Amino acid sequence: MATMEERLDELMKKRAEARLGGGQARIDKHHAKGRLTARERIELLLDEGSFEEFDMFKKHRCQNFGMEKTQILSDGVVTGYGTVDGRTVYLYSQDFTSHGGSLSETHAEKICKVMDMAAKNGHPLIGMNDSGGARIQEGIEALKGYSEIFLKNVMYSGVVPQISAIFGPCAGGAVYSPALTDFTVMVKNNSYMFLTGPKVVKTVTHEDVTPEQLGGASVHGTKSGVIHYGADSEVDAINYIKSILEHMPSNNVEHAPIVPTNDPVDRATPVLSQIIPDNPNQAYDIKEVITNTVDDGRFVETQPEYAPNIVVGFARYGGKAVGIVANQPKFLAGVLDSNASCKAARFIRTCDCFNIPIVTFVDVPGFLPGTAQEYMGVIRHGAKLMYAYAEATVPKVTIITRKNYGGAYCVMSSKHLRGDINYAWPTAEIAVMGEKGASEILFARGAKASEDPAKYTAEKEEEYKEAFLNPYRAAERGYIDDIIDPAKTRFKIIKSLEMLKNKRDTNPMKKHGNIPL
Ligand code: HXC
Repeated sequence: MATMEERLDELMKKRAEARLGGGQARIDKHHAKGRLTARERIELLLDEGSFEEFDMFKKHRCQNFGMEKTQILSDGVVTGYGTVDGRTVYLYSQDFTSHGGSLSETHAEKICKVMDMAAKNGHPLIGMNDSGGARIQEGIEALKGYSEIFLKNVMYSGVVPQISAIFGPCAGGAVYSPALTDFTVMVKNNSYMFLTGPKVVKTVTHEDVTPEQLGGASVHGTKSGVIHYGADSEVDAINYIKSILEHMPSNNVEHAPIVPTNDPVDRATPVLSQIIPDNPNQAYDIKEVITNTVDDGRFVETQPEYAPNIVVGFARYGGKAVGIVANQPKFLAGVLDSNASCKAARFIRTCDCFNIPIVTFVDVPGFLPGTAQEYMGVIRHGAKLMYAYAEATVPKVTIITRKNYGGAYCVMSSKHLRGDINYAWPTAEIAVMGEKGASEILFARGAKASEDPAKYTAEKEEEYKEAFLNPYRAAERGYIDDIIDPAKTRFKIIKSLEMLKNKRDTNPMKKHGNIPL
């Protein structure tokens, strides 16, 4: 009979074997590609010494193509739980050195186990993906494994935060798990996501593309909108995940943690009184408004390079986490188009399902006109944004800094879509349209008939501006709650959020709504 010491020794040896994954040679090859191992990534993510691993000794059951002879303990994925800034998270981290991180039935079982535990115990799930996709030697069992992961991604959507990192290849149907999660982060020039790789693309469409051109972080961060952040390195990606977690509750029945700040609640922001240019067609940077008002100037932007005409991200006011949505006059004059609508709608729904109040800064000339947008379905996409704001029951505080015209007025968290507190700066222009558009429709005939059409038009436009391009019409009707000094914006937002902290609002009973996807 073996002694306890011998048994412990055997356990240590087995653990050491599992920790080595596919072996030192493959680890060296992996490092040479500028990538960290599955376990190194976990070490970076979690608080030191907090990791508890599950299923280290799990093996695959495949008997095809000599696979029974190539058993690697852990079967290509490290799973378990630990803490990030003292808060529990569950995780999985695919090990590319073990069968290329490919997903077998048992590999999927390990992932499903932590997903179930995360949902049952109410903690976020972080998935670190680095995989050649379905374990080819297994075939259909691997597909079953993927499908079960997808199902759990959907079932636990809106229950616990789910965050995906892509640290290597992520190809084929495997991309759908990250796509179903709340946030996806990639590493620039060292990770890729696509349904079919460059070789298949070449065969089918005759396009010559590199993996980076087809599905690198630059593509998904700017063109497709699939990811929320393109990191410069794996360390940067993991730090970004931590900063997102910091603003999220652990589950849908909690609130995000309050982070005390020395930034005074009533800190004035006089610089904002000067920020709106005298010329209404001149741009300014809405991010200056955001960073000047939030706690310690800290703003964690998501999808910074996609549809930059709208800015979304997390920050804190008086210690409380909020989601911020803001039109960006610096890009396309802050106009709403299809991509901006989808980006903001998704973000608003993320905030709403995790009890994160939404602060909206509005400076929007309307929806972008033209065939390109109409053919793209700007009606359908704009409707998503409308839908997201209307159904959201979290506290909604809105600050109108300048333009707020037409359909975009209705959409951008207006009082009529259950905005709770809607303030305007004195520079606000709340109207159906700007003076030029109105002039085309209302004054063209009069101008034609007049002796001096230019003078007539200028006078009429001035008259229109005087009458409509201000916040007072909306204030007279109670469509905004007050007109505020820009210097007091921070204070007013914090007071509003405090006042709204016990807000209870519901939607009619239904199986689920039918958002125009
Ligand atoms: C089994 C795999 C594998 C896979 C890689 N490996 N992918 N084993 N199943 N899917 C193994 C390799 O045999 C090799 O084993 C090790 O992982 C490293 O692979 P390399 O090819 O040497 O690495 P590299 O040159 O870096 O290329 C990485 C790669 C390539 C681009 C990911 O391996 C590749 O193209 N793999 C196949 C990708 C693919 O088509 N997957 C199936 C997609 S379909 P050794 O023992 O030599 O170290 C799919 C369906 C999902 O995923 C559907 C969900 C609904």
